[in-house]
Order: sequence, then structure tokens, then C-alpha cells
Amino acid sequence: MSAKRICLKSLVRFGLLGILALIVVFVYFTGISARLWNCHLQARERVIPFLKGAKLDQENQQENTTISNFNDDDLLIRLMQNSKMLEELFFYHLKNPKIELEERDLFKQLGLQLQQTIRVARMLYSDIEKLYSNAFREKQQELEKLNALAFSFISNSQNPSNCSSAKKLFCNVKHHCGLGCMMHHYSLCLFIALGTNRVMIWDLNQVTEYPGLQDAIKSPSHCQSSKEELASAPEWRSPQETEPTPSDAPIVKVTGYKNSVFAPNTVPSQFLPRIELVLADPLTWWTGQVMNYLFRLKESMSKEVEDFKTKTGFGHPIVGIHVRRTDKIKEANYQDLNSYMEYAINWYDQYVIRHGNVRRKIYLASDDPAIMEEAKSKYTNYQFIFGESACSDVYSRFTKNGLFGIVKDIFLLRGCDYVVLTMSSNIGRMIQEMRQTSLQDATFHFANLDYSYHANGGRDIVHEVLLYHNPLVHCDRKARRHTDGSCELTMKVGDRITNYPMMKRGTMLGGFNQRTNQVGMYPAFKVKTILVPESYPISMVENDVF
Ligand SMILES: *[C@@H]1O[C@H](CO)[C@@H](O)[C@H](O)[C@H]1NC(C)=O
Ligand SMILES: *[C@@H]1O[C@H](CO)[C@@H](O)[C@H](O)[C@H]1NC(C)=O
Repeated sequence: MSAKRICLKSLVRFGLLGILALIVVFVYFTGISARLWNCHLQARERVIPFLKGAKLDQENQQENTTISNFNDDDLLIRLMQNSKMLEELFFYHLKNPKIELEERDLFKQLGLQLQQTIRVARMLYSDIEKLYSNAFREKQQELEKLNALAFSFISNSQNPSNCSSAKKLFCNVKHHCGLGCMMHHYSLCLFIALGTNRVMIWDLNQVTEYPGLQDAIKSPSHCQSSKEELASAPEWRSPQETEPTPSDAPIVKVTGYKNSVFAPNTVPSQFLPRIELVLADPLTWWTGQVMNYLFRLKESMSKEVEDFKTKTGFGHPIVGIHVRRTDKIKEANYQDLNSYMEYAINWYDQYVIRHGNVRRKIYLASDDPAIMEEAKSKYTNYQFIFGESACSDVYSRFTKNGLFGIVKDIFLLRGCDYVVLTMSSNIGRMIQEMRQTSLQDATFHFANLDYSYHANGGRDIVHEVLLYHNPLVHCDRKARRHTDGSCELTMKVGDRITNYPMMKRGTMLGGFNQRTNQVGMYPAFKVKTILVPESYPISMVENDVF
């Protein structure tokens, strides 16, 4: 690898960190202005129109050829220039407004400066993205190889040549919940099966909400067991429990959550050192491989999905939005369509900087029909492809139980260039997991509107502190639990924070500091995820074959 390449890579890395830091500064700064605005409600009305003007306008959309032709060296120089300008905007113009101005003019000036700042930040982000995608091209081959290796490990392990000598694990899911939730339950079994060298058997008749599921998705293994064998199988107990199941027991049953080391948010130790050089989030990558294997469509279902794509004109570029309503409103915070659309609009505004004007297509999946009408009437320059309404006239043997609707949403959203999801939703998490098995880094192609990513029945996600944090509002030592987001953790370098997914607010995360026993908020840019390697029975040989 040439010195220039290495330099470029570290610059990309540094650049991404830099922009994260700048965004945090920005959020912090606008936090201050927000407080100012609360005292001056009218002033707020004066500034916001200027910020709205920062949306990409005609003049920028014409800049097609010049920007997309920049090479890496041009980009680096532009990056430096624009970063410097951003710094100047923050630290000079925004922090030192001409306070002798009248209030009205002061806010007008602040509004104009913020608008300018947003434009520069956009350009900067666009350039960093381009540099990153240039550098990522080199990594794609390795990613392709690792995806293939992971798939063949899973597939070989589940399809032994001699079924009668293979040890089996019956996944006895007695829980009844939505499809995403059911699939996550099955995945917990597959993690254990892969870790303990067993073939997973399921009985999809247990999934009474989705009759027809077994006609839609492939079985994890060609091996089968008799009903009697499954029913009489002893319950599996992990080596962490007293009286663990002997590893040579021919068949075991897994009902409900098990205290297993083979669980979501671990990565096989054989893959970890390689995948962490390629992707930002190796934990979700491995879960994605497992989910992707479990959710392989049978030919007839696959064809229905492809037919639906053709019929509705699903094509690239396209942004996917998944709005989970009905039963989730009770569980998670309500998000209006506008909050999802802001990300989609921003993605297209960024996209046209590099690619020129395009038809702005959105795949909108929701269980709430009212949202389709709202989308059509409010966002007239967007072309929406809808789930339910568009497919109700399609004859399908999967339609009547809603299965086709959900499967189609999952596979179409998985194929979008960018998705806006909520991590409170099982389907949202599953899509994000499955997108990790593509040849992109899915982490940089999605927006999440609520909780942090997590996996029910998986390991807790633990963050290691990289930068000291001495907040303005400390979490009180006496009141140990502050789950309302009102105070921040004091953190030392090296502290370990157990992440509490539901506490997330934008770029502020919530969790438990294991050193101080305090619960509170902390900024995402000051921590990194601790990766947990686990020794799965995978033997890699030199030519990357199993
Ligand atoms: C498969 O395994 C069974 C049980 O261990 C054994 O009796 C049989 O000979 C094996 N078959 C083959 C083809 O190896
Ligand atoms: C941008 O450039 C591409 C490639 O040269 C071209 O195909 C496209 O039509 C251009 N778009 C606009 C809006 O000029």
C-alpha cells in the first residue's frame, strides 16, 4: 500500500471524526441559541426562514460536472479549505455576533451566518463522502469475500452431509409477536446452534399469526426430525449454568432466552480482525449474516417480490422510509412523517451535489394508510411507492395474512440506497442488520429516529470512553438513576458505559457508567463500541475456504 493511500485513509478517518466533532459543536452551539430563542419567541420566527433557505437551491443543482470530476487530491485541498471556512464561521462569526446591533438585525445576522455554515458543512460532507467511497472501493473485495465466507460457514454448519449423525437443536418458540420479533427469536437459536455445532430445526406451524410462512421462507436445514423426537428433546442448558447439557446430546430444545455466549452482539473471533478493518459496525454485520440466512425466500415468494418491484417502478436512486405506527405508538415516541422526510430530503439534496438532478423516489412502508395520503399531499415533488394500497389488487396466496406486505417491505427497504428507520421496531432493526450483508457500509446509509441499536436476548452494548467528559449538568450522586435524559455522566478515559438503548436523544446516548454506578447521558463522539470476539467452531484455512 502506497504512502499516499495510507495518508488518504487516515485523512478520511480523521475527516469523518472531524465532521462528527463539528456537528457536535454545532448541536451544542445551536443548543445555546435555542435557549436564547426561547426567551425571544419572535426572534425565532426571524431566524428560521433563513435556515430553511439553506436547502439546496437551483444554483447548486447545476454544479454537476465540475464537482463530480474532482479527483482525490482536489478533494483533499477542498476539504481543508472548507473545514477552515467552517471553523471560521463557527468561531468568529457565530460566536462573536455584532452585539451592538438591534435585536432584530442581530438575529437576522445570526440566521444568515448559520445558513452559510450549513451550506459549507454540506459541501464538506459531500467531499468527505466522495473520498470515503473512493477509498471503500478497495475494501469491497474483502467485504465480498467475508460475506461469502460467513454464508458458507452458516450454510455448511446447518447442512451436514450425514443428517442422522448430526447433533440437532429444536428451536421451540412459544412466544407470539410480529414477524420481526419472531425472526429475532429464531435467530437466538441459530446463534447457539452455530456456536455449539448443531443443526437448527424449527416448526413454523408454531407461528400461528403468519400461516403460509413456511411456503415463503426456506428452512435453515435440509435435515429433519420426527415430531416425537422434537417433543421429547431435553431443554438445553448453557455451560454457564449448573448441570449444563452434555455437548454430545443428540438433540436439545431451546425455549425462550438462554444465557449463551453465542448471542447477538458478538462476532466470531475468526472474522473480527478482518471485518473491523472494513466496516464501522462489525457486531451488526455478524447478526446480519445470521438474519440473512434465516430469511432466505423461497422461489415463489422471491418472484412475487421481484414482480412487485417491476410493477411499482422500484429503481435507483431510492430512499426507503419505514413508519411503524399502530401498536408501536404505545411503546416508542411518536414520530411524525416530517421527521422521516427531513432525512430523505437532506439525502437527496446531498445526492444532487454529486450526481445532478434526479427523480426523487421514496419507498414508503407503513401500517398506517393515512400516512400515504399525507405524503402525497405534502411532498408533491417526490414520487412515492407505497406498500399496502398499491399491492392490494395483486393476487397472491401470501396476501391474506399480511405476510406478503411485510416480506415485501423488508426486502424492498433492504435494497434502498438509504433508509430512515426506527430502532425501536424489530422490523427496523432487522432491515438494518440485513443491510450489513450488502457491499456497502450500511452504517453510513441509514438514519435512525429513536432508540440506539440493540438486540433483545443479545449481549449489552458496552462503550469505552475515549475522551474525558465533565458536563455542565452532572448526574446527582445520590439519585443514581436518571433515565429521563436530564443530566450527563462524568467520564474518565477508559471508563466502560453499558448502553441503555431507550435513552438515546439524537447524538446523546444514555447508559450506566460501570465505574461510578451512575446512569445518565453521554455524547456519542466520545466513546467507541467494545467488540466481543467469541470462539465459534469455524476453522479457516489459508485459501479462505472452510
Ligand atoms: C450416518 O450416520 C449414522 C449414525 O452415526 C451411521 O450409522 C451411518 O453409517 C452414516 N452414514 C454415512 C453415509 O456415513
Ligand atoms: C450530470 O452528469 C451526468 C454525467 O455526465 C449526466 O448523465 C447528467 O445528465 C448530468 N445531470 C445534469 C442535471 O446536468
